[in-house]
Amino acid sequence: MKEIRSINILAIESSCDETAAAVVNNGREVRSNVISSQIELHKLYGGVVPEIASRKHIEKINQVIEEALKEAGATLDDIDAIGVTYGPGLVGALLVGVAEAKAIAYARKLPLIGVHHIEGHISANYIEHPELEPPFLCLVVSGGHTHLVCVKEYGKYEILGRTRDDAAGEAYDKVARAIGLGYPGGPKIDRLAKEGNAEAVNFPKANIDGAPYDFSFSGLKSAVLNYINGCQMKGLTYNPADIAASFQKAVVDVLVEKSMHAVEEYGMYKFAIAGGVASNSALREGMKKACEERDIQFYYPSPIYCTDNAAMIGAAAYYEYLAGTRHGWDLNAVPNLKLGER
Ligand code: KG4
Ligand code: ZN
Repeated sequence: MKEIRSINILAIESSCDETAAAVVNNGREVRSNVISSQIELHKLYGGVVPEIASRKHIEKINQVIEEALKEAGATLDDIDAIGVTYGPGLVGALLVGVAEAKAIAYARKLPLIGVHHIEGHISANYIEHPELEPPFLCLVVSGGHTHLVCVKEYGKYEILGRTRDDAAGEAYDKVARAIGLGYPGGPKIDRLAKEGNAEAVNFPKANIDGAPYDFSFSGLKSAVLNYINGCQMKGLTYNPADIAASFQKAVVDVLVEKSMHAVEEYGMYKFAIAGGVASNSALREGMKKACEERDIQFYYPSPIYCTDNAAMIGAAAYYEYLAGTRHGWDLNAVPNLKLGER
């Protein structure tokens, strides 16, 4: 796609528990990326409490935007458009970002571009890989999503498969809680698994008849819980590191197998991962190896661009901007927004 001129987008993300703002130039150059995380607050409750998240977003959003502008050495005069996540996510949390974006866009007469959160995660790969352009396949694995997506063109997506129940990150978080690691569990399991034996327990890997690219993680999560209960009832000790490593192997094996099956079936030679779980070290290693074996170019964002951030929303918003996407003052938060809907 041809670049028209230098476009600076102020992007806002507030779909879950991070209040984030960024200034991104031409979709690829991150001039600032400010994230105010609420993790410490939600830790007390073992997960994200929607009401608390919304309230905290309201408290933080102006400050985060001011910081993003300052870090970029910019003012609103330098901004060409406002990009904002408008779904999917927690409705109260999304509304804070959407209302803020509309207010700034209206006051400054700037174009308003609503962005799908998953489109943002996928676009995180553009930031550090200037050579990456569609078409490619992308596995989006986060706390709320597990989607295998074909990126046909900028902004044009075909969902090949998705989870039927829990998202991959959700499974990580639930298993972490069961072995006493606390929230968010993904990074903790990642760390603990390094000390464990991945072959210690043979946890199930779900395949769904007739849907080769769909995922299911709730059976795996139950198998882990049953294993722990079984040990406790029999008075046996279990090694949390072995459980973490064996669980992680079951998740990674399924994600790698299904992704590589899709890559081969669709004749793709570029493959990317995105979302919070994309920062998992075992997943990165497994995918890297599988892609090398098939001579496929493998892309993944730095951890800071894997978990929720606004730079990825700025990257996605740029390509939507070039495609002519403009939202009106009636833009609303859509908690169950489908990828590809406008
Ligand atoms: O993308 P993200 O910040 O939020 C959503 O859009 O859901 O992803 C958060 C999820 C959490 O479930 C967290 O446990 C998981 O990503 N996560 C990880 C790792 N880092 C974050 N899971 C596995 N390994 C990691 N290193
Ligand atoms: Zn996310």
